[in-house]
Amino acid sequence: MTKVMENGIATLQMKVTNKFNSMFGSPPEAIVRAPGRVNIIGEYTDFNNGFVLPMAIDRYIVIALKKRTDHKVRVVSIDFDQETTIPLETLPKGDHSWVEYISGCLWALKEHRFEPKGFECVMAGNIPIGAGLSSSAALETAILKAATWCSGVELDKVQMAKIGRYVENEWVGVACGIMDQMISSAGKSGHALLIDCADLSLQDCPLPDNSSIIVLDTNTRRGLVDSAYNERREQCFKAAEVMSVDYLRDADLTLLERKSNNMDRMVYKRAKHVITEIQRVKEAASCMDSNEFERLGKLMYESHVSLRDDFEVSSEALNCIVENAMSSLGCYGARMTGAGFGGCAVALVKKGQEEDFMNQVMTAFKSQTGIDPVLYNCRASDGVTIKTDFKKG
Ligand code: GLA
Repeated sequence: MTKVMENGIATLQMKVTNKFNSMFGSPPEAIVRAPGRVNIIGEYTDFNNGFVLPMAIDRYIVIALKKRTDHKVRVVSIDFDQETTIPLETLPKGDHSWVEYISGCLWALKEHRFEPKGFECVMAGNIPIGAGLSSSAALETAILKAATWCSGVELDKVQMAKIGRYVENEWVGVACGIMDQMISSAGKSGHALLIDCADLSLQDCPLPDNSSIIVLDTNTRRGLVDSAYNERREQCFKAAEVMSVDYLRDADLTLLERKSNNMDRMVYKRAKHVITEIQRVKEAASCMDSNEFERLGKLMYESHVSLRDDFEVSSEALNCIVENAMSSLGCYGARMTGAGFGGCAVALVKKGQEEDFMNQVMTAFKSQTGIDPVLYNCRASDGVTIKTDFKKG
């Protein structure tokens, strides 16, 4: 059966609150929610010091929590049907599960001289895992928000994103850029954010009035994404080195052509993607400002082609869903989104035509691949929030 997912934040909040009451015998003191993200354009540009244009989506990790007086963090995960108690003095490492992210956040706070205090919490989420919608960045921002609130510390959005990335890079061991943590921390309702990854400055970009952002999950997942990601990273740094610039952000196509004979063909193609993608992001942001959604859609598809042919991080399923989207009713543009190799694509679709579009894509994709995709009509939401007055409604 094909599925169109609803966001269900009220259900999530009720679920964690009820479970909290039954586990701990009293109501939570606060509820944190941290969003996943979809990147509208700007793929593999973040670690090249370039621009990205993601939006926080209305799919979340939600945590109900209460302070404890001892030095323990007790976490119940509804989705994994597991619980763990983490002693703050000796943080466990190496179990490669969701617990790794929690202990990583507590460790990173300590490393940054924010001493976390004990708390107990129940968490649940509705961001699909491994789909490229940043469920792990959402978990990091949610835990960082919860832990800092319990310790009376307030991190600003950039600090939070940096500490979240530090968890991934230094504790979990994933060499990602800053995009996912930044948007989960700083997202703004109704807007995408143009993030300059060189100085982490942000510009709000209103989503075009007459179009919707639809996430198309191919329901395919691929292992070894990390090694392919690292390989691309190395190739980008190699290209920058050959062109004698610090980052690909500082190069342009003229320089690339001039140096192309000094680099391997593959390295050239990777650099070409990044350099042209950074241009597309800048143009896309100005299209958003001037409500030029047709041009924006074209840029999204150009980005897909570049990721498919030059950066080579797409997949058959992603190409199939993107082509189906492009030929469906009301579509301005579509592309794979996130790290690729499986997971999700994103489409910009004319308002009022979302249902026809989704039905058409679901039917065509299913008949060509035999796989049921999952489609989400996403609203742009705020970054991580904490509520302490939720009992009043
Ligand atoms: C993953 C990483 C991000 C970014 C994207 C590709 O989501 O976590 O930092 O590099 O891939 O754009």
